[in-house]
Amino acid sequence: MSIPNCKIPAILGVDPLNVFLGNCESGKSVIKSRQTLRKGGFKTVSQPWIIHIFGKLLAALPAPRLLYPLYLARQLETVVEEYASALLPKAFDGLKIAYASDIHYGSLLKEDRVRALAQRINAMQADIVLLGGDYGEDSPGAIRFFQLHPGFRAGIAVLGAIGNHDRKPPDDLPGLMDEMKKEGVLPICNDAWILERQGSSIAFASTDDFFLGEPDYIKTAQSCRNADFTVYFPHNPDSLPETYGLFDSSFYQLALCGHTHGGQVSVKRHAVISSSLYGSRFLSGWYRENGADIMVSNGVGTSKLPVRLGAVPQIHCITLRRKEQQESSTGDQQRSPGS
Ligand SMILES: [Fe+2]
Repeated sequence: MSIPNCKIPAILGVDPLNVFLGNCESGKSVIKSRQTLRKGGFKTVSQPWIIHIFGKLLAALPAPRLLYPLYLARQLETVVEEYASALLPKAFDGLKIAYASDIHYGSLLKEDRVRALAQRINAMQADIVLLGGDYGEDSPGAIRFFQLHPGFRAGIAVLGAIGNHDRKPPDDLPGLMDEMKKEGVLPICNDAWILERQGSSIAFASTDDFFLGEPDYIKTAQSCRNADFTVYFPHNPDSLPETYGLFDSSFYQLALCGHTHGGQVSVKRHAVISSSLYGSRFLSGWYRENGADIMVSNGVGTSKLPVRLGAVPQIHCITLRRKEQQESSTGDQQRSPGS
């Protein structure tokens, strides 16, 4: 059984309206995480307090408060985390993963922000870059995204999942996958890519989109059955319960997902309009279900309207760590960021 140890050692960016309102969990979590950071002595990327105070003042004024959701949608928080598991082979201790999902290139997020995003991702100098899908607003938009040549770079590989918007008609999955490959991004769809090192292996697996694709969970699980550790990164966390009961235990140890946008507009960790069949069950952050650890990202872009509240845009830098000392499992539960 996986014995994880998830930490949020560094966060760039604060949701000042949440802090001001004092009733949105994400705002509280940011503060809590920053405190945890100082105690833990991990690498930090801190935000100047003057900006924090300015944000609180801004949020207190009526007119800027109305504009704040527009402002928040254009921010981008880098969440730097370490994830430790006793099941991770020693050979992959220190493997750095950059994760970005739900970019939604198009009328609400234009080329300049795509290029800025790629710069932020590349600056992480990750070994593996995982793109979580929803590159554009529809399938042709996803193709145009890769035709921009955003230039995501990784030390070892850049892999991409397929999201619901990437399958939105007029659907052209083969055309999209071709453009991804031309850009140096390996599409992973009902398949896995396996990295071998010093006699050990780690798989990066993904299924086709849950809503508009043809996900094949059995085929995907078989493609990584010989791996020592599996990172499953389907676009939509609704895919995860589909795998429960299919196998004796989860075929993955760690899942990285997007799709929910953290609710995009959420209050007290509840999405005002949920894009998940499960409501706010997989809203944002870390969870543990069916013996595996799950991280759900707020994603980068927005859908339908360029607004966010209680769900700052996010990208992630996750360093995998081998956990030497096995501790007793706390079972399936929702985890609090920074706890
Ligand atoms: Fe999305």
